[in-house]
Amino acid sequence: MDKLIITGGVRLTGEVAISGAKNAALPILCAALLTKEPLTLSNVPALNDIGTMLKLLAQMGVKMEREGDRVTLDASDLHNPVAPYELVKTMRASILVLGPLVARCGEAKVSLPGGCAIGARPVDQHIKGLTAMGAEVTVEHGYVHARATRLKGARLFTDMVTVTGTENLMMAACLGAGETVIENAAREPEVVDLAQCLNAMGARIAGAGTDVIRIQGVDALHGATHRIMPDRIETGTFLCAAAATGGEVRLTGTSAGYLDAVVDKLMDAGCEITSEKLPGIETLMIQAPARLKAVSIRTAPYPAFPTDMQAQFMAINAVAEGTAVMRETIFENRFMHAVELIRLGADIRIDGNTAFVTGRPALQGATVMATDLRASASLVIAGLVAEGETHIERIYHLDRGYEHIERKLTVLGANIRREKA
Ligand code: EPZ
Repeated sequence: MDKLIITGGVRLTGEVAISGAKNAALPILCAALLTKEPLTLSNVPALNDIGTMLKLLAQMGVKMEREGDRVTLDASDLHNPVAPYELVKTMRASILVLGPLVARCGEAKVSLPGGCAIGARPVDQHIKGLTAMGAEVTVEHGYVHARATRLKGARLFTDMVTVTGTENLMMAACLGAGETVIENAAREPEVVDLAQCLNAMGARIAGAGTDVIRIQGVDALHGATHRIMPDRIETGTFLCAAAATGGEVRLTGTSAGYLDAVVDKLMDAGCEITSEKLPGIETLMIQAPARLKAVSIRTAPYPAFPTDMQAQFMAINAVAEGTAVMRETIFENRFMHAVELIRLGADIRIDGNTAFVTGRPALQGATVMATDLRASASLVIAGLVAEGETHIERIYHLDRGYEHIERKLTVLGANIRREKA
């Protein structure tokens, strides 16, 4: 397994281009299943998860062409509405094919994703919503079987805010008979990006971005072209890397608009962040102080502080001045980066879903192990500021959600290299 070797102590400077959003691209790739006509996407990031999703769609019969960041998908010959365990176990977001397959083919057989490092990750809300829309859903031998001649409009209420649950049900409802209303819907920008793509395909969705989404079902969707939104979590991750190293970095092709809570906290920590709108391109500029002030956070659904940025903030709090209280309210086990940061000398105490982080003037390089995608990013940030060399093992987690992270960090001056296993 590959590993990253980082020699800390370099102040990041320069310019980095932000890629398309993984968590917008994944549901939007599944939207291709809803039509017989081609869907052309641009700004699709080159990530392992994207590759897995394309493999999953191809084995269903979807034809695809990929050139750089452009992908054209053609689901006219969809003959295998099945998502097998071998693929689903490597990427939980595979569950996003469930709604589109039932809506388009009248049936779906999707492996249960199972849990992952950060939590049990059940999909009961996805199933509850499809059942309410008239699907017959059974769960047997680790697979969700769903059938419906045609889904019908319904009033859906999810027990908790669920991003992919909202996305799955919104896609299913596009071809349903009548109106579907999703209450307590996720408001994440990636849900809005999906809704914009679906509407470009002829769907009739209103309210995306609010907690009540209304979908008027139509008989068929047509092809479209759509540009994937920038990745706000990659944006936040690079802002944290610049902040931790006292750097001065310009991020291009992204916007602060999706990250108010994160930008707010970085400014509380002492950073200056400005955004510039040049014709056709938005950029974000961050200037960080020599030492940050600790900032407490509490994760919650959008627009509050995103859980996907909690690990990265734990890394910056590990070297900030003061003590931060960090509460994780979305997932039950999303502090695994803490024990690895402690190996680098961080002063962190975990009490249930709260972490107390007292900043140290410096961390010491060591060998650490990545456990999940955002935990890996947290260890990279810590390695950038630790004294000496940090070896990060199992970085396949990182490759799932960050496009060429070591190349981008090298351009910013970091001393980082990948060692092939
Ligand atoms: C999405 O996961 C993201 N993944 C996650 O990003 C992100 O952390 C999460 O939303 C929260 O923002 C993608 O978009 C592909 P949820 P998702 O359903 O949809 C519980 C990353 O790092 N729940 O919003 O799976 C669930 O257990 C990944 O890029 C149920 O109980 O998350 C969790 O506690 C990690 N039953 C909470 O709701 C359900 O049916 C929120 O989960 C669904 C969810």
